[in-house]
Amino acid sequence: MKVILDTDPGIDDALAFILLKAMPEVSLQAITTTHGNTTVEKCTTNALKLVELLGMTDIPVAMGATEPLVKTLSVAEETHGDTGLGHAVLPHPTTKIVEVNAANLIIDIVNANPGEITILCIGPVTNLALALLKDPTLRKKIKNVVSMAGTIHYPGNATPSSEYNVFCDPESFDILLRSGIDLTIVPLDVTYQCLFTKAHIERLAGAREDIRNFIDRSTAFYMEFHAEYQGIEGCAINDPLAAAILVKPDLVKMRDYYVDIELRGEFTAAKISADHFNASGKTANAKVAMEVDVDAFMDFFIERVKTI
Ligand code: BDR
Ligand code: CA
Repeated sequence: MKVILDTDPGIDDALAFILLKAMPEVSLQAITTTHGNTTVEKCTTNALKLVELLGMTDIPVAMGATEPLVKTLSVAEETHGDTGLGHAVLPHPTTKIVEVNAANLIIDIVNANPGEITILCIGPVTNLALALLKDPTLRKKIKNVVSMAGTIHYPGNATPSSEYNVFCDPESFDILLRSGIDLTIVPLDVTYQCLFTKAHIERLAGAREDIRNFIDRSTAFYMEFHAEYQGIEGCAINDPLAAAILVKPDLVKMRDYYVDIELRGEFTAAKISADHFNASGKTANAKVAMEVDVDAFMDFFIERVKTI
């Protein structure tokens, strides 16, 4: 399976990198970075640190959007720390980004592999929106998009009603929703069931020492955030769930929904809604993960990480 990873690393993004390293079913074609959890410059440095940690420096890393399409930039350093990787410290990378920017690299790779590329978006989808605006033919050539995004019934983590990735760039997400691309949405409704705790870290005994140490130090910060701001014990590992379902879709139960986004609401800006009873009569435009087998996902994550 040929995949482009579009990401804003980010602690849970970093866990998705680690899981992808442990998923030989996936052939990563490129890693494209975006603004999101922190600035695109810091996210890009983090992506390069992670490919070095994981021995993935053969995969091109392209820097992407510095800001959303319309809104001003948001960052979430209280959630992910000043560097974006919590308490984890990795060596400064010597690997360089490729010369082409993220949106252009997406265009090039999809055009060279029509019908074959899955795009896994685990940050704001600005790069993909820019690619679709520049080359509208892409919508027919992208195999599918899996996006960790939004919330249907669960409370928002950016505003009372909106999820962070969609909140950062709602206009780009709107472009994706209207693109006609085969779209899978992995919302907070399922990711916030997947709470990673110290007990899971214990279960990583036997995993590569530096990777286990990275997971321990990065998630320690994430757990502090969840405890202080959300009263949650453990941390929601949103992004790795979206990666996992690429190869193990039965971890979640999907519903076909017509999904829309509020671009103007005073209290509900950047909220996505799913038309459960098809009140609009509109054709479904997304598959939305609404239930998750939490234990199966945690087992999958831990077992796979131990294979690295
Ligand atoms: C999403 O927002 C970011 O903070 C995380 O990396 C994840 O992609 C969760 O709302
Ligand atoms: Ca992310």
